[in-house]
Amino acid sequence: MQATQCSLFSEIDFMDIKFPQTQYLGAKYIHGDWIAGFIPEDARVILDAFSGSQSIGFLCKKMGKSVITNDFLKFNSEIGKALIENKHDILTPDDIRILFSKNTEPERYDLMEKLFTDLFFVREEAAFLDSFRSNIGRLGNEYKQALAFATINRAMTRKVTMGHFAHTQALVYAADPQRVKRNRSLIRPIKDIFLELVGEYNQAVFDNGEICISRNEDILDLLPTLSNVDLAYFDPPYCDSHADYQGFYHLLETFTMYWKDKQFVNGTKRYRPKKHSGFETKKEIVDSFRELFSRSAHIPYWLISYNDRSYPSIDILVELISPYRDVRVEKKLYSRGRGEKGSVAGSSEILIICSPKTH
Ligand SMILES: C[S@@+](CC[C@H](N)C(=O)[O-])C[C@H]1O[C@@H](n2cnc3c(N)ncnc32)[C@H](O)[C@@H]1O
Repeated sequence: MQATQCSLFSEIDFMDIKFPQTQYLGAKYIHGDWIAGFIPEDARVILDAFSGSQSIGFLCKKMGKSVITNDFLKFNSEIGKALIENKHDILTPDDIRILFSKNTEPERYDLMEKLFTDLFFVREEAAFLDSFRSNIGRLGNEYKQALAFATINRAMTRKVTMGHFAHTQALVYAADPQRVKRNRSLIRPIKDIFLELVGEYNQAVFDNGEICISRNEDILDLLPTLSNVDLAYFDPPYCDSHADYQGFYHLLETFTMYWKDKQFVNGTKRYRPKKHSGFETKKEIVDSFRELFSRSAHIPYWLISYNDRSYPSIDILVELISPYRDVRVEKKLYSRGRGEKGSVAGSSEILIICSPKTH
C-alpha cells in the first residue's frame, strides 16, 4: 500500500495525508484498511461508484491509483473534485476574504435565509451562508470552488446534532446547555467552524501523479461510458436501513445546487422532486443491481460493500453476480460487538469479492 512522491528535496508518503472525515451515514472510513487489503496490487484504475464522503476514493488516491469517483449527489461530487481530482489548488487568505465578503446579489442568493431560518440556523447564520454561496463563483477556478463547497458543507453538518438534516432539533439542542457542553459546535458561528476546518481540507490536497476525476452521475448512466477501469468499488445505499440520502442531506444539496425549480416540503423543507437513485426502494433495487452488474461486465474486478441486514439478501446478490464473476464473501465483525456509526446494531460489514471467472 506504499505510495510516495519523490522530489529533489523531499519524499512525501501519501499514506500520511489525513482524510478530513465527515459524519456521513454509511461512510467506510473506518473499514478503509480492511477494504484496501482486497484491492489487487496490479489494479491501476479504480472506480468508486457510490462515493459519498469520498473516503475510499481518497484512500485509493493515497495508494497511488488513478481514481474515478462518482456520486449522484452534487455536494458529494464536490468533495471528490476538491480532494481527489484537485492536484494543487488550495484556499488562500485572499480566497477566504472573497468568500466572507458581502452578498453579491441578495435578490438571487436568499434561499438559505428564506428556507432554513429558525429551522436549522438563526437568521444571521442563514444569511451568512447565502452571502458565502454568492461569492463561491468568484474564486479563481473549479477546484477552489469545490474546496469552498466541501469545507462549508462540513461546517454546516457540525452545527447539527448527528450531522444530518432529517431532524429539526438543531436549534432546540443549541439552546440546551447539556447538549452544548457535549458539542460546542452547536453554538459556534459557522464562519469560525469553517476557519477551523479550512486547514484540514487544504492539507488533504495532493498530486499522486495519476489522473483522478470526480463525476456526478447516476452510476447506471456512467458505467457504459467508462473504459480501462480495472476495479469497481460499489457501496450502494443499504435498502431497508439508511437508503434515503436526500432525506438526510437535502440541505447540503440545496445549498450546492441552489435550486430554483424545486418545491420545499414537510417539516425539514426538503426539496421535491428528488433525484432518482434506483437503489433506495425494495421495488426497484433488484432490477437496479441486475443492471449494475450487466453494465459492469467490462470491468474485471468488483468489490461490493454490503450489510447482512439489507435487502436483497447476500445470497440473492451472489446469485445475481454469479453469471459474470467468481464470488467470495468476506465478513468483518464490528469490534465493539454493536453497530458502529451509520450501521445497524449487531450487524457485520460485508465485502463481496468478485473476480474474473476461472472457467
Ligand atoms: C453507502 S453511501 C456511500 C458511502 C461511501 N462509500 C463513503 O465512504 O462515504 C451510498 C452513496 O450512493 C449514492 N447514490 C445513491 N444512488 C446512486 C446512483 N444511482 N448513482 C450514484 N450514486 C448513488 C448516495 O448519494 C450515497 O452517497
